This record gives sequence, structure tokens and C-alpha cells, in this order.
Amino acid sequence: MIRPILLHPDPRLKKLCDPVAEITPELGQLAADMLQTMYAAPGIGLAAPQIGVMKRLIVMDCVKGDVDPPRPIALFNPEITWASEELSTYDEGCLSIPDQYAEVQRPAEVRVRWLGLDGKHQEEQFSGLWATCVQHEIDHLNGKLFIDYLGPLKRQMITRKMEKLKRERARFGE
Ligand code: NI
Repeated sequence: MIRPILLHPDPRLKKLCDPVAEITPELGQLAADMLQTMYAAPGIGLAAPQIGVMKRLIVMDCVKGDVDPPRPIALFNPEITWASEELSTYDEGCLSIPDQYAEVQRPAEVRVRWLGLDGKHQEEQFSGLWATCVQHEIDHLNGKLFIDYLGPLKRQMITRKMEKLKRERARFGE
């Protein structure tokens, strides 16, 4: 089921999310819904608070183009266990902040530990777009958005645009 994606500014996008105690069938369904919502948007990552669920769950698929098979993954309670000193800059966007992009600098590679859909812990090192995406999505679980890395003026400009978009959508009942 495709879920509506919350738009910034929204207090639910600023909150710390709760860890998941164990993987239940309901949480499996939530992960499936989030992947469906992410692909439909379309996007490469989505965090549970973006659909108003305050749990530590993110989904991603950063495979580009049609050559490689898709790689949907769901990460419960993801934690960064190591980050490279080397940084990389990427022009980031967010499904909760549509059509707004800005350059954000983050560690180029990170190792992440998480609980998988099978209830087992997994650990993997991510690089390239995957590294940027996983850090962006984990930030969501801590109430942090990519615009929080920008200067106050740029952040305010984007927030005002988003407030206007939300007013328009409310008026036209989209
Ligand atoms: Ni985002």
C-alpha cells in the first residue's frame, strides 16, 4: 500500500524515532509499504517518520538504470559503526522536500549495522550514492533533514517555499 509522504515543515520530521524491539509481521508489512511508496515517488530512500511512523526503519535501493537488478533493502535500528575520514559531496534531495536540492558533504564511506527483515543482525560497508543515502535516511530517524546542514538563509528560503507549496496543496485539495 502506498502511504502519503509527509512534507517539511512537519513536527513529526523533527523527532527522535524509537528502536524496534523485534521484527513482527506488521513491521514486515510496513517495510513493504515503504518500499512501494519509495519506488512510486520515485525515490532511492525513505525513512519511517516520513510516513508518520516514529520507528527506526529505513528502506533504500540506490541501483541506477535498468542494467543491474534492483536491490531493495530494509534496515531496522540502523547504526553507523564506522565512517571514513574522506568526505564526498552530493547534490541531495528529499521526498519530504520535493524539488529542492543542495550540496551536502558527508563521509564518503560508512559501515552500518542493522537488524534485517529475517531478525538477524547484518553489517555492511556502503560507498558512493549508497553511503550518502544511508546517512541521509538515518538522519531522518534522529529528526534531522539535509537542509539542517545548510546555512540559515538557504534553509529558511527552502522552508518558506515548502510552506507555500503546502498551502497551495491544501487549497487545491491535492
Ligand atoms: Ni529525506
